[in-house]
Amino acid sequence: MEHINIYSGKKAISRIVTSDSIKGLGACLEPFRSIFAVIDKNIPVNVQLMEILKAKNVRIKYIVPSEEDKTLETVMNICSWLLENGADRDTMILAVGGGITTDMAGFAACIYKRGVRFGYVPTTLLSQVDAAIGGKTGVNFEKYKNILGIIRQPAFTYICSQLLESLPKRDFLSGAAELLKTFMIEDNGNYQKAADLFFDIQSEFHLEVMMYGKDEKTQWRELLKKHRKTLTGLIAAAASIKAGVVSRDQFEKGERRKLNLGHTFAHAIETLAQRENQRGLCAQNESSTLPAEEQHFPSGVTHGEAVAMGLVLAARLADRYYRNDRNETTALESKISNDFWDCDIPCYCPYSIEEMAETMKKDKKAEGGKVHFVLPKSIGEVETVELTVEEVCRLMK
Ligand code: GLY
Repeated sequence: MEHINIYSGKKAISRIVTSDSIKGLGACLEPFRSIFAVIDKNIPVNVQLMEILKAKNVRIKYIVPSEEDKTLETVMNICSWLLENGADRDTMILAVGGGITTDMAGFAACIYKRGVRFGYVPTTLLSQVDAAIGGKTGVNFEKYKNILGIIRQPAFTYICSQLLESLPKRDFLSGAAELLKTFMIEDNGNYQKAADLFFDIQSEFHLEVMMYGKDEKTQWRELLKKHRKTLTGLIAAAASIKAGVVSRDQFEKGERRKLNLGHTFAHAIETLAQRENQRGLCAQNESSTLPAEEQHFPSGVTHGEAVAMGLVLAARLADRYYRNDRNETTALESKISNDFWDCDIPCYCPYSIEEMAETMKKDKKAEGGKVHFVLPKSIGEVETVELTVEEVCRLMK
């Protein structure tokens, strides 16, 4: 078990606990008298977790999280439930689930009775290494993602790698992309270690499933169990990097921007894919309907997949910007994309830079026509530079 703190100045304001077992959660809940939990209904029941909650008389509300329902209305439903059940100022709200659940329950905690304490048990790799660390809470509004929200730190985040074993492979790999992103920002040794681990898991999985015909779900679960200790160490290392960045720049005035490595491209890819798929869903008789075979991502694109594509594009941009590498596939781009392919994380972006340009201009992080692009100088070192989208288009061609 490892303890990592987030600081404001010299004061510890949030604690991250990483462990390969759920047992230690009890100690995190110990100081709280009245606990209300918001739990993702889709996560498989974990008997040990439920016993810990029962021992503390935790009241539970289940939600079915989705991007569409990541709204003020859902947050108000959580607040109504708190009110109806007599939650007072001394209440602690515990969120158990992925990033949508922690973002919404955290936001409800920030506004309920002008703010009560809250804690997180993230259950996806994506939320363990990103969403549940750093205190960003919020909801979608109008057509903008996470546009309404507050940055406020949870009392604790309990990160348990054991909970990941029920995660489907695609969701796990989505988180793996964010984990690799974190190490691209700060830690060269762990980047390679993580890439090697995911490659090993992937190779063993293919061998057992393709060659020996083993059941995919069972095999995936067993492999995550087998590599649990190494994974816990890598998650702790990534959490520690993010905790350091957040301690130095909690409110994203400067350094915290580097956590957005690959994300300006990723958001554009997610928007374009969503647009195509919405056209695909339009009534059959509409002329704008796009048949499934013409959609680039008929089964959608996960956030991590879009991030992987964004990281490859950021590597290309950096190669062009710093080294004037004019090769068709630049050096760092080639290294990153090979690593992602080896881990079975899709990282080829099917959209042209011109197609992405419009959505990048609208990115909420764009200021005065310029966008903050985070560029990897090398693996483990990044820099944020301000570029216009036109400059980026020129460099990428
Ligand atoms: N997901 C980026 C951040 O927390 O700042």
